[in-house]
Amino acid sequence: MDSLRNPFSPGAGSPPYELAGRDTVVNDVMTAIRRTALGRSSKHMVLMGLRGVGKTVLLGDIRRRAESEGQVVVLIEAPEDRSLPALLSPLLRLALLKISRTEAARELAYRGLRVLAGFVSATKVKYSDIEVTLDLEPEQGTADIGDLEHDLADVIEAVGEAAKGSCKALVIMIDELQYLPATQLGPLVAALHRCSQNQLPVTLVGAGLPNIRGHLGNSKTYAERLFDFRSISTLTPDATRDAVIKPLAAEGVGITTDALDRIVSDTHGYPYFIQEFGKHAWDVAEHTPVTLQDVEAAREFAEATLDASFFGVRFDRVSTSEREYLRAMAELGPGPHQSADIAIAMGKSVQAVAPIRSRLIQKGMLWSPSHGEVAFTVPMFDEYLRRIMK
Ligand SMILES: Nc1ncnc2c1ncn2[C@@H]1O[C@H](COP(=O)(O)OP(=O)(O)O)[C@@H](O)[C@H]1O
Ligand SMILES: [Mg+2]
Repeated sequence: MDSLRNPFSPGAGSPPYELAGRDTVVNDVMTAIRRTALGRSSKHMVLMGLRGVGKTVLLGDIRRRAESEGQVVVLIEAPEDRSLPALLSPLLRLALLKISRTEAARELAYRGLRVLAGFVSATKVKYSDIEVTLDLEPEQGTADIGDLEHDLADVIEAVGEAAKGSCKALVIMIDELQYLPATQLGPLVAALHRCSQNQLPVTLVGAGLPNIRGHLGNSKTYAERLFDFRSISTLTPDATRDAVIKPLAAEGVGITTDALDRIVSDTHGYPYFIQEFGKHAWDVAEHTPVTLQDVEAAREFAEATLDASFFGVRFDRVSTSEREYLRAMAELGPGPHQSADIAIAMGKSVQAVAPIRSRLIQKGMLWSPSHGEVAFTVPMFDEYLRRIMK
């Protein structure tokens, strides 16, 4: 069918036509945000899951909803190479400018900007990637001692006070939270803690790989009770059907039951795979309804595209020794696997391969579900590796 009208959207962060099966988590996060705006206590929400399950598009959806309610949202993606102060500062500035449009909060917003000016000039010494400059007289003695733990709490508190003045919540959204180093995660958690102690309407909505639970837990002794961790995983068969039927129906196209069942079983309900299968089934089909034969023919295209993009981009980023490690893991099956078993499979000692293992964890290729164990962060990565190793 006409590829111009193809309603599927495979791709990292590409919003699907239908955000299937996520109503509960979206509602819970929205409730937390609204409670925060009202000055009621609520936990910070952390969405955790493997790659391609839909964390980024969930954050995007929540952001749109929160902004349409007038909440003050800052959304950043923590990349491997930029610091939290550098990412956050320009967005906090925008947030304060937005708040300053509310008459009742104007003075607090201007004060926030002066605190931010002090924060930026004090923090620049250590985090030289900060690019924003604020042409304002900094407020002396707040957020300007040059210690992130102290200053970040001051600055977020000042923005929180301004948000409170405008009766809105400050919603800090951070994607790929697992990439924040402990030296920045700890201060962030401390800042959130200070805001809740002072009953300021500041809330975090984070997303990342499943290991962020451990990172957050290790960052501060009180961290565990500040956060509500939600696992984002595969869609149920019914939600998978919705994710396929609804975009097709919007284009006046149907799909047979056996074709739908095949998409459910072939994708295991992984959102990224659903989009890719849907896209190719559409391209292969000549007219409505999409049939089982179409889906069968689409499978090869879908897999080839996934191999080249979703799986391939990750595999391209690893060194030769890291590849050997991943290959040995893949031979052992889907995992999680004991580090010791992988070392044995490679014919090496656990100590010898430990640095490779940590690099792969750092790169976000692997995560450690429990002590001595590792697993892939990409669903069905073992099958991919076995496919390309043949
Ligand atoms: N609930 C959903 N229903 C249908 N498709 C989804 C859903 N969530 C995500 N997707 C699709 O899955 C793909 C991956 O989403 P993304 O948010 O980038 O995942 P993650 O951030 O977890 O790696 C995108 O193509 C997106 O359109
Ligand atoms: Mg993502």
